[in-house]
Amino acid sequence: MIVRPEHPADIPAITLLTEQAFGRPDEARLILRLRADGDAVLSLVAEDEGGALLGHVLFSAMAAPFRALGLAPVSVVPARQRQGLGRMLIEQGIAEARAAGYEATFVLGDPAYYGRFGFRADLAAGFGSPYAGPYLMVLPLKGELPARTGKVEYAPAFAGL
Ligand SMILES: CC(C)(COP(=O)(O)OP(=O)(O)OC[C@H]1O[C@@H](n2cnc3c(N)ncnc32)[C@H](O)[C@@H]1OP(=O)(O)O)[C@@H](O)C(=O)NCCC(=O)NCCS
Repeated sequence: MIVRPEHPADIPAITLLTEQAFGRPDEARLILRLRADGDAVLSLVAEDEGGALLGHVLFSAMAAPFRALGLAPVSVVPARQRQGLGRMLIEQGIAEARAAGYEATFVLGDPAYYGRFGFRADLAAGFGSPYAGPYLMVLPLKGELPARTGKVEYAPAFAGL
């Protein structure tokens, strides 16, 4: 299994696996819109030895008081969930975001799952967002966050979800 950046030829397979993971087309459409808008910053796939794509993660542009990315969506094909693929994709994405100089990654999701990667709702609590609440979490990538307050906004495509 390898995790690598998406290639243009992967797009149909990413669309399909995202639909399969979520059981609906909305998140796959979101990814297409984010790409079309130029907001898909970091897009990674998990590929098995036979070349099949089994998982995908996207990190998109965000408006924030410092350089930040939004983690979403992340998908693993149903038959291969709970085998660590989601973790591999998320950890690799976080490492690449850090290497690219981002200060933080935000996520909107299950605190029990994302807490394992160090995402914290308490650190995100000071930021203004339509998604503010226990599910909005942030992971600082370089130690301390440069700011603990201000407005954070996901890319416009998220408004359609
Ligand atoms: C969420 C998801 C990406 C995780 O990927 P994964 O490869 O299954 O996860 P990992 O193997 O790295 O981690 C497994 C842990 O994740 C958690 N987890 C995985 N799927 C879960 C689910 N559907 N509900 C709740 N927790 C889940 C469990 O705690 C699990 O640990 P356990 O098996 O010890 O209980 C994957 O299950 C998926 O595609 N789900 C459907 C789409 C989705 O909900 N995406 C997240 C929102 S953007």
